[in-house]
Amino acid sequence: MSAIPTASHATRIALRGDLLDFTGEPGWGDVDTAAVRWRPNHWLLIENGRIAGVQAEAPPEGWERHDHGGRLIMPGFIDTHVHMPQLDVIASYGTELLDWLENYTFPAEIRYADPKCSEAGAGLFLGALLANGTTSAVVFPTAHKVSADALFAAAQQRGMRVVTGKVLQDRHSPDGLRDDVTQAEKDCIDLIQRWHGRDRLAYAVTVRFAPTSTPAQLAMAGALCAADPTLYMQTHVAENRDEVRWVRELFPEARSYLDVYARAGLLHRRSVLAHGVWLDDDDRAALRESGAHIAHSPSSNLFLGSGLFDWNAAVQTGAAVSLASDVGGGTSLSMIRTMADAYKVQAMGGKRLTAWKALHSATLGAAQALMLDDEIGSLEPGRIADLAIWDWAVEPVGRRRMDVARSLHEKAFAWMTLADDRNLVETRVAGVVRHRRTGG
Ligand code: GUN
Ligand code: ZN
Repeated sequence: MSAIPTASHATRIALRGDLLDFTGEPGWGDVDTAAVRWRPNHWLLIENGRIAGVQAEAPPEGWERHDHGGRLIMPGFIDTHVHMPQLDVIASYGTELLDWLENYTFPAEIRYADPKCSEAGAGLFLGALLANGTTSAVVFPTAHKVSADALFAAAQQRGMRVVTGKVLQDRHSPDGLRDDVTQAEKDCIDLIQRWHGRDRLAYAVTVRFAPTSTPAQLAMAGALCAADPTLYMQTHVAENRDEVRWVRELFPEARSYLDVYARAGLLHRRSVLAHGVWLDDDDRAALRESGAHIAHSPSSNLFLGSGLFDWNAAVQTGAAVSLASDVGGGTSLSMIRTMADAYKVQAMGGKRLTAWKALHSATLGAAQALMLDDEIGSLEPGRIADLAIWDWAVEPVGRRRMDVARSLHEKAFAWMTLADDRNLVETRVAGVVRHRRTGG
């Protein structure tokens, strides 16, 4: 287990509320799954920043008690794909992926060469994650080393579990956002030495996407992964049809877009691939065999008109799927809004996503996919106390809906569909309050 920051953890804290987490993976369409663990009106005990236990009765003297009776307490959400600098381009009008990158995103990311911009951006970004109940994330900064440094430092200050790494892109990118293989390799090695495995931070070899890396850069990235199997790898794959066509032209020798990464040694157990909308069955089998997983980003896929991800096809082939906001292609950092979008994407394909499958994918499922389930994703004793406390409803429509909900799944599904950051009461990282709603 990783070490946690030392400041102000020497306390015994007890939180009362409706505890909801998972002990396994819910089956597709199973609204009555045994994988959900529901302990209403229980006390969650936190000692030295870790979950110490759960009990029905109030703890004895010596515990700092916080009574959130009637509120939902869940593990903090894990956003497995999101871009720190793209708060600057969230909600940009009128384009699909490739034009959006060229016209909005690349110009915005160039600014992060400035350490001040990176530092301010990292603080704003992590604060916004916490204000949405997200306590862990796999993040793209920019191609500038300084942006990765700033993000690692800001996460360390907040005690957060963050996986990130300098973005690699050495072609088809504007001046000011292009690196080169030699300098990029040096920067990666330096960042890995200084940040990987420090506190709750981990390094991800971060390939923007196949079109913006030369084969030489992909090979360098693959060599970094081969040299240290504890490193993560993150990239984008098969998001948009024009992008897929372009990759076919650039890499005619590869069987598919995903195969470009496989050939470079970038497909492994710690690989996080955003989107995967346009994969085929062979790709899904390759995902299952490598243990790599898809960070499904429904808000982004809708907003950029990229396509409808077939989640059930991934389940059928045994490929793992986590959930991601993909801001700024996505339009909200809220994992609840992301789940609501995920439901609608599946509905467009005639399939139905349960609240359990969605919530699992943003908590325990993501933690398992990232091999971090001994640290995050559940309320199991020994896990670090990364949690969010939520109101079931905060306004008349939500309250009415909760009043008439009959089953737990009905209630959880209505919450997932109607709630947002207004429902969030408090976010704790390693037991420490890192965000609290103003006004109680
Ligand atoms: N593909 C390459 N870069 C990006 C990005 O920043 N956002 C999304 N959604 N797709 C990408
Ligand atoms: Zn992305």
